[in-house]
Amino acid sequence: MSAKLVVGTQWGDEGKAKFIDYLSSEIDIIARYQGGANAGHTVKVDGETWVFHLMPSGILYPNTVCVIGNGVVLDPAALKTELDYLKNRGIDHKNRLILSDACHLVLPLHKDIDAARESAAAGKKIGTTKRGIGVAYGDKVTRIGLRLGDLLDSEILKERLEHLIEVKNRVLKEIYGLPAIDFNTSYDELARLGAEFAPMIKNTSVYLNDNLAAGSTVLLEGAQGTGLDIDFGTYPYVTSSNPTTGGAISGSGIRFQYLKEVIGICKAYVTRVGEGPFPTELLDESGEKLRQAGNEFGATTGRPRRCGWFDAEVLRHAARVNGLTSLALTKIDILSEFAEIKIATGYTRNSTPLEHMPSSGLEKVDVTWETMPGWQTDISKARKMSDLPDNCRRYIDRLVELAGVPVQFISVGPGREDTIVV
Ligand code: GDP
Ligand code: IMO
Ligand code: MG
Repeated sequence: MSAKLVVGTQWGDEGKAKFIDYLSSEIDIIARYQGGANAGHTVKVDGETWVFHLMPSGILYPNTVCVIGNGVVLDPAALKTELDYLKNRGIDHKNRLILSDACHLVLPLHKDIDAARESAAAGKKIGTTKRGIGVAYGDKVTRIGLRLGDLLDSEILKERLEHLIEVKNRVLKEIYGLPAIDFNTSYDELARLGAEFAPMIKNTSVYLNDNLAAGSTVLLEGAQGTGLDIDFGTYPYVTSSNPTTGGAISGSGIRFQYLKEVIGICKAYVTRVGEGPFPTELLDESGEKLRQAGNEFGATTGRPRRCGWFDAEVLRHAARVNGLTSLALTKIDILSEFAEIKIATGYTRNSTPLEHMPSSGLEKVDVTWETMPGWQTDISKARKMSDLPDNCRRYIDRLVELAGVPVQFISVGPGREDTIVV
């Protein structure tokens, strides 16, 4: 019938998974469309915490079908770990997980090269999650990658794996001085995984469109965020896919006409993991206060997240490139400790105001600040707008005014119930 998209508006970790889980109660099919096991998606239900890397965050509802779309780079070992994680915690995913035959695979060699490249990059490292993401997408666009569907035909697997290993062994040995990959060992392991995953492998573009045509609802789950987009992010300090709306269409293969809503997930302050420019970053004790209060430590790598004040220019950029129809504002409860809260309303460069977020040179901008009074009251039990203190509502109104996009949800805690529908 129709599709909704949940997309990150900052540099990831905005609280996308909380909203995927929250919205999934009324959705038939949840589909990831890009990224891979670099994502760390945290869902809290009834006091229990779940962290997903590849698995769509709607898997906790017993009747939803979860799809890993063609735009995802799939690490079979990471998927296996996640399937075991679900099984051990009593979640039955049988007949509820479908994998695209066109997903490119992340193999151990991709992770080895990612890690080696980062170590060798010295001052130029990206700060990747070392999950092999950039290397696997690189093989996809240079047309030597291996796809999930290739595992189902022994001849195709043999032919494509031989070529990939031939190219990659040169890189491993000659550039990084790492051991070569043995073809037979890789082949046996991949053939075994192919047999194990075979019942789940499908043409997911056909599956999604057929179900949409038959009246199903689909929720597309973005990983990462607009600031990490390969085209619209802070290149080169980005991931290697398109988390933005265009990527949701190409990475799922749904007819774009089905997409009716694009919900931008936006933290009430900003965080970023890894390297790259961050105009509102707080390097003082306020940054540390945000990190501790917000428990801002990576769900995938455990790294401390860099923290800073809300940046309206980043959100306006996300609103434009994604065509946001509404916002979900998360973690506003974390700001309750502050007597004053700052907002970046825009940027200047060499004292000249910039009309939009620049494609490069973000590290050279100066921020134009506005300061608002805090509310210094616990808001975690608020369930409707009128429960929020006046200063909190003023802060929200100002963000919405600066973004030019209406807010649909306010999140005041990690649980499903900690949500205000505006
Ligand atoms: P994602 O990658 O965008 O799905 O976000 P992460 O799961 O990496 O990080 C968001 C973290 O914030 C998780 O630990 C969530 O449980 C938590 N969270 C989400 N929304 C809220 C909120 O409104 N308030 C608080 N205090 N925590 C939240
Ligand atoms: P979720 O879905 C935050 C960052 C890495 C690094 C850059 C490139 O949980 O929001 P990569 O391993 O993708 O090649 O690393 O991207 N990064 C994320 N930061 N949240 C994520 O995912 C991220 N996935 C990748 O830290 O800066
Ligand atoms: Mg995350």
